[in-house]
Amino acid sequence: MPDLNSSLYTDMLRSSARGRSLPRRLFGAIRREFTSKPLYGLEWGDPETVEPLRFIRDRWVIPYVRPDYTALEIGPGGGRWTRYLLQFKRLYVVDFHQELSSELRKNFHRPNMVFIRNNGTDFPGVPDRAVDYVFSFDTFVHLDPPLIEAYLGNLKRIVSPGGNVVLHYSDKTKPMAQENPTFSANDPIKMRAMVAAAGFQVAEEDLTTMWHSSLIRLTH
Ligand SMILES: C[S@@+](CC[C@H](N)C(=O)[O-])C[C@H]1O[C@@H](n2cnc3c(N)ncnc32)[C@H](O)[C@@H]1O
Repeated sequence: MPDLNSSLYTDMLRSSARGRSLPRRLFGAIRREFTSKPLYGLEWGDPETVEPLRFIRDRWVIPYVRPDYTALEIGPGGGRWTRYLLQFKRLYVVDFHQELSSELRKNFHRPNMVFIRNNGTDFPGVPDRAVDYVFSFDTFVHLDPPLIEAYLGNLKRIVSPGGNVVLHYSDKTKPMAQENPTFSANDPIKMRAMVAAAGFQVAEEDLTTMWHSSLIRLTH
């Protein structure tokens, strides 16, 4: 323990005050503005800094990333989550909207990435049983159950035996989903029924991290 008369604490306070001074903060903001490329989607929360999203990144994404595996992301948007999937051997990025696909391509265009525009539920060009890990965030929350059923049916074809599918979906048992008209009429009971009907098993669920939605991991 430092001596009672030590200047440790007052030095720390002075050093912090210097760091928090207006000129320093302005300089930091200007440097960030010039050095970072803001991704479309970070306004909904950055998994680097927003705790529940950081948890999802560390618990549901990073542990599955392997350089010898193939992954597929549905609805990547600007790449908020794509940036954590770049280390897969191959990464299919599937979006319904050309504009969004182009936005992603602006930020991330790596040789291991395959950009696919789909019809809203299919996986054109993806071989059977080729995908070891599927991730989708903030996309299924807006999809109505018939689209989710169609997606699950098509996922069955492309996911490898033992592969993992992590889907983030609307959970209308939660008040924040009930209040959001853009969130689809889904909940864990409906989701489990659709998953079972498509021939997948529920490996794991997360019903608590998000306030308006839930996550489910499927295998088959
Ligand atoms: C709200 S954004 C989420 C983007 C990204 N996943 C994120 O969390 O930042 C929804 C994305 O899903 C895409 N999308 C919407 N409906 C889709 C569908 N049926 N199939 C594939 N992509 C879809 C949109 O074009 C957009 O890129």
